[in-house]
Amino acid sequence: MEYIKLNTGIDIPILGSGTNTYGKEGNKYKGEINGDTTELESAIESGYRHFDTAVSYRNEAVVGKAVKESGLDRKEFFLTSKLPTKPEYKEYRESEEAVRRTVEASLEALGGEYIDLYLLHNAWEPLEDIAEVWKVLEDYVDQGKFKAIGVSNFNEEQLGYLLEHSRIKPALNQVVSHPGKWNHAIIEYCKEHGVVPEAWGPLSGVSEENKTTLTQIGDNYDKTWAQVLLRYQIQRGVVVIPKSHNPKRQKANLNVFDFELTEEEIQVIEKM
Ligand SMILES: NC(=O)c1ccc[n+]([C@@H]2O[C@H](COP(=O)([O-])OP(=O)(O)OC[C@H]3O[C@@H](n4cnc5c(N)ncnc54)[C@H](OP(=O)(O)O)[C@@H]3O)[C@@H](O)[C@H]2O)c1
Repeated sequence: MEYIKLNTGIDIPILGSGTNTYGKEGNKYKGEINGDTTELESAIESGYRHFDTAVSYRNEAVVGKAVKESGLDRKEFFLTSKLPTKPEYKEYRESEEAVRRTVEASLEALGGEYIDLYLLHNAWEPLEDIAEVWKVLEDYVDQGKFKAIGVSNFNEEQLGYLLEHSRIKPALNQVVSHPGKWNHAIIEYCKEHGVVPEAWGPLSGVSEENKTTLTQIGDNYDKTWAQVLLRYQIQRGVVVIPKSHNPKRQKANLNVFDFELTEEEIQVIEKM
């Protein structure tokens, strides 16, 4: 595994596992929580130590349970969760007390002690309100309950505002990034401003045409189109969190540290 240092001094594993359909009926995002830790167990067994969950996924406790039942030390893991911030989740962040209530529930679900990284799931208006909620997250960093704090789905203007109006700068910005929706501009902006970029949905929405090209590139290294995409993100310094319900694909997605894409191949991929 490779790591990137976040601005609070902790290391984030550059590759983790998404979880947004784990522990749910029918592996559906909106499925009932059934507490099934099968995929988490096989991910841990394969070597994953970095998991990305969120309050809105409703499965933080399932992730917490799998970590506890793994028998490994909590310190072996890097856990990310997110405060829901979209208008429909307004009650989770409408007052300082509401934010603290949400955060305490996340802490409890993920083992009670601390969370490695806590994100604002989305930006909202007015930006001044984001800066107010951010202060509460900063307090949890001061208390040692969050090892780092960051944002998700923030554009340049929103991230720029928070960078200017915060005591502890956002450590990371998690944004969608895959062929057809690379988000190159915000990723470059993050890098320029010391904010680590992270790619969600890295294997989603890939056209058949792009799969063919990526497969041809992968053939040079005995890798699949998916492994080429993950390697691309890692090689450009982007943390990546693929998710699979299939143990073989979980393993394959981890197996991306033994080859290097050429500059030419990168130029083909980044234009997709
Ligand atoms: N911040 C946000 O707003 C936000 C939004 C969405 C997601 N996320 C996070 O990002 C994580 C990842 O995104 P995602 O879950 O949407 O999708 P993803 O990682 O792009 O995966 C999409 C699909 O690709 C398949 N897949 C995985 N590995 C593969 C492989 N090696 N070869 C072929 N197919 C493969 C999986 O199906 P199988 O299960 O059949 O393998 C999966 O359903 C989420 O779980 C969540 O934690 C964050």
